[in-house]
Amino acid sequence: MSKIKTSYFCQSCGAQSPKWIGRCPACGQWNTYVEEVLQREDKKKYSGTSQKISPKPTPIHEISYTQENRIQTCDGELNRVLGGGIVPGSVILIGGEPGIGKSTLLLQLALNLVSHKVLYVSGEESEQQVKMRAERIGIKSDNCYILTETSTQNIFKQIEILEPDLLIVDSIQTLHSSFIESAAGSISQVRECTAELLRYAKESATPVFLIGHITKEGMIAGPKVLEHMVDTVLQFEGDRHLAYRILRATKNRFGSASELGIYEMQSNGLREVSNPSEVLISQRDDDLSGIAISATLEGNRPLLVEIQSLVSIATYGTPQRSCTGFDTKRLNMLLAVLEKRAGFRMGTQDVFLNITGGLYVEDPAVDLAVCASIASSFEDKCISGNWCFAAEVGLGGEVRAVNRVEQRITEAEKMGFKKIFISRYNKKELFPERFNIEVRMISRLDELFAELFS
Ligand code: TYD
Ligand code: MG
Repeated sequence: MSKIKTSYFCQSCGAQSPKWIGRCPACGQWNTYVEEVLQREDKKKYSGTSQKISPKPTPIHEISYTQENRIQTCDGELNRVLGGGIVPGSVILIGGEPGIGKSTLLLQLALNLVSHKVLYVSGEESEQQVKMRAERIGIKSDNCYILTETSTQNIFKQIEILEPDLLIVDSIQTLHSSFIESAAGSISQVRECTAELLRYAKESATPVFLIGHITKEGMIAGPKVLEHMVDTVLQFEGDRHLAYRILRATKNRFGSASELGIYEMQSNGLREVSNPSEVLISQRDDDLSGIAISATLEGNRPLLVEIQSLVSIATYGTPQRSCTGFDTKRLNMLLAVLEKRAGFRMGTQDVFLNITGGLYVEDPAVDLAVCASIASSFEDKCISGNWCFAAEVGLGGEVRAVNRVEQRITEAEKMGFKKIFISRYNKKELFPERFNIEVRMISRLDELFAELFS
């Protein structure tokens, strides 16, 4: 009988230790070590069809290189996030909260790619359940195969027979490899299964999509090494109660990591939102106080977002400050600036701030719109519906320059706005005559308020 070898693994970072320890020396977390059985026997691993000769160093100028033939999916948003299509042999990990739509997104991709043979491995749902979802999405495909299997060895056997052009695994936490005896979903299983799939992807040049669960802190469950191993990490996020979903690349070896795709969840699957500014600004007939539009950038993509605020007298002692989609600390800072530099008495007011569409905005260029929106609610005077804002606000009440202001102005112009407020310090790089929209440059908050409430 072979001796069972066990080892302890940190469930947070994947560090290994021969014995149990209370605090992980690698990541500093407490109580994260769990015993796992390791037993590597000489069972046959996936070895591919070709007999590999061990590689020799090659001078870089002798390496032949052809432009990779990326697979163009029918999904424009996914193509954009991946940096222009799927690279052959790449491994793409998609993480997201349960129920956000990861399985829907990838099944939709599988059904849409009619010219490629796609194998969808489902470890979570039965064939009937996948079929039900496909019926709901309503696309017919003859080239999409479903396999409900969780053992990687069996999956590779089926792959050798079917030879798919694209492999989708839902989810990596349900797979298990017989080389390791710990339970599916444990750190060592997830790592081993990913390594096997990675080897398969690189040797056969087949792209592989992996769905990964996330922990309650929002990280992809499993060791951080998982994110290092794969080529691309995508996050699928959004508020489950709202229809909008955002697909964001957090790591991409073959493209920019700041791209963003926006979808809307409908009763028949996910729909691409190619003009997000239109949906993020609420439709209304009258101008209301407390609303300001900001021209922000999410990654490389200009987006117009609506900021709503409500300022009202605090009836219970300490005034409340609450934000959705914006950093509360930043709100407090801006309130202090408004109080000290522009003379708004905010100390006795409750302030509620909301960014519509369920978006979380980190771009500092929303500052000016936040200040305008709060001031508008405080004064109960509305801001004209075709004005928008793009600038950062400093502690001295100064209006600071932001990057790529031309892109923001162009988006505002495209959306039919008449006037945009930016910082005077953006002037150097800019030719306002080039735009059909009025570009108003200011350097201090007082100038803004003089114009808004005159
Ligand atoms: P799902 O893809 O199962 O999420 P995940 O794999 O990330 O856990 O998404 C399921 C949610 O999406 C579920 O709450 C139902 C909803 N949904 C729709 O609204 N329309 C649809 O066409 C489909 C297939 C799902
Ligand atoms: Mg799922």
